[in-house]
Amino acid sequence: MATSEWWQKAVIYQIYPKSFNDSNGDGIGDLPGITAKLDYLKALGVDALWISPIYASPQVDSGYDISNYRVIDPRFGTNEDLYRLITEAHTRNIKVIMDLVANHTSDQHVWFQQSRQSRNNYFSDFYIWRDPRPDGSAPSNWGSYFGGSAWEYEPMRKQYYLHYFAKEQPDLNWENPLVREAVYDLMRFWKAHGVDGWRMDVISGISKFTDFPDYPTPNNESFVVGALHANGPRLHEFLQEMNQEVLTPFAMMSVGEAPGSTAHNARQFVDHTRRELNMVFTFDHMDIDHDHNAPFPEKFHPLPFDLVKLKHSLSEWQNILFEHGWNTLYFENHDQPRVISRWGDDQQYRYQSATAFATVLHGLQGTPYVFEGEEIGMTNAYNFELADYNDIEVTNTAKMLGTAVTGLSATELLAAAHKISRDNARTPMQWDATANAGFTSGQPWLKMNANYATINVATDRQQTQSIFAYYQQLIQLRHNAEWVTAGKYQLLLATDPQLFAYTRTYHDHSWLIVANLSSANAATTALQQALGKQQCGQLLVQNYPARQTLAAPLQPYEALIAELK
Ligand code: GLC
Ligand code: CA
Repeated sequence: MATSEWWQKAVIYQIYPKSFNDSNGDGIGDLPGITAKLDYLKALGVDALWISPIYASPQVDSGYDISNYRVIDPRFGTNEDLYRLITEAHTRNIKVIMDLVANHTSDQHVWFQQSRQSRNNYFSDFYIWRDPRPDGSAPSNWGSYFGGSAWEYEPMRKQYYLHYFAKEQPDLNWENPLVREAVYDLMRFWKAHGVDGWRMDVISGISKFTDFPDYPTPNNESFVVGALHANGPRLHEFLQEMNQEVLTPFAMMSVGEAPGSTAHNARQFVDHTRRELNMVFTFDHMDIDHDHNAPFPEKFHPLPFDLVKLKHSLSEWQNILFEHGWNTLYFENHDQPRVISRWGDDQQYRYQSATAFATVLHGLQGTPYVFEGEEIGMTNAYNFELADYNDIEVTNTAKMLGTAVTGLSATELLAAAHKISRDNARTPMQWDATANAGFTSGQPWLKMNANYATINVATDRQQTQSIFAYYQQLIQLRHNAEWVTAGKYQLLLATDPQLFAYTRTYHDHSWLIVANLSSANAATTALQQALGKQQCGQLLVQNYPARQTLAAPLQPYEALIAELK
């Protein structure tokens, strides 16, 4: 597989627009706010922005419930504000990728408003409608990702509609060619306005098992994340059609979100000979701390960090996709907590663990995604009480407390939310130490992380130990070193509980990437043995500046990239 596409040398920065930068003091980040920070993003060195949904939306699920795909939500600005942002980004050689949420719409979308009215209008089959069972109950025992049944009754049609997510997010019926054409058409609309590519929300879910078989275990809501809600029978046919209709003719980059996908079926999405998507976000490595035997929602019963599992998962993707497809590389996004709080040490070793996790990720083959604030080591928000959460995942679970469903007390849910909830990533960006971290002159839409006076962009960039500066280095390395793009991956010390070590080999030369992902010193004897005759040469990147060879043990969260000779 060639490695000459722009996105194969790129680093992409994800913006969660509500929380990035507020230009007009209403407490909500907006498009002019993003435009005002383009020079900051240019200084970091990123090549493209992925902007989470900014379309008209009632915000039941933070914009992932879209009521009009062609209009920017007034909270974020106007369509003209977006066109200006795109122009300004392009002037700086930064591409713009939008979120395509096409598994479902908002129930306020005109398509659904029409569809729910009757069984025989133009939009009737835009969604997935089924008759009740003879006893009036839902057509199957499927559960929604956000809790409760995945079916909602609509009295006007005397039928149920399917919703994998909130009941305000009805699933579109991709079996209907009119739906598919409508989606392709809106993609062309945004292309005409300069959009360079798409991040596709839960794309693995668009094709349904249309006979809706019951789960084997009745009422087993944990079953939602898996077998029946992803990888339906016509998924790849639909993606190939989309590719032919839009992606290839209009040269748009694509990254699909693919929950429920194993390494094997990920390759079906991205094998370049199949002409579907450029890359997918997979979840294996994000699932290593999920306890699949825990009650619903599993994620609020997190397990401790297991480095061996992380290495196994990331290595599997590196190996299976090598020369066939392209990987995404990420630890954070708007659905995940901060990696240093989840798996690192966000107190004593905040700089070291932020740079160590960045090193192992950015040394891999694929396209790295940096989530806003990751580049300055932002942490989870420990100052949240249950009432402070906005995320529907937490608020819905809070409603089920004390019931047999979750098995959680309020104290346990709060502790789990501090560890794993999505709002940890969604607190406003911390720009400086002034009021509300310089994010807004008004009242922020979500509580600020209490640590903004010490953790913020201005402070970080003044330090000798600057996480931002370290990211700049990693990004430059990706831009300049062909081996980072194309080199073959080899994991070392697969079962070592402290070290994540691997080599990349390109045209007979090798490079070593190693990090001690623990807060104790780690001996390097086994590493040196694994390297055999190869010696550590020039150090290209390191987060403990004094080191010159591999002789001394690696200190807590010490990381480096070195040429081997
Ligand atoms: C994706 C989004 C998430 C959203 C869900 C439903 O997983 O990343 O934020 O809640 O889809 O649209
Ligand atoms: Ca605003």
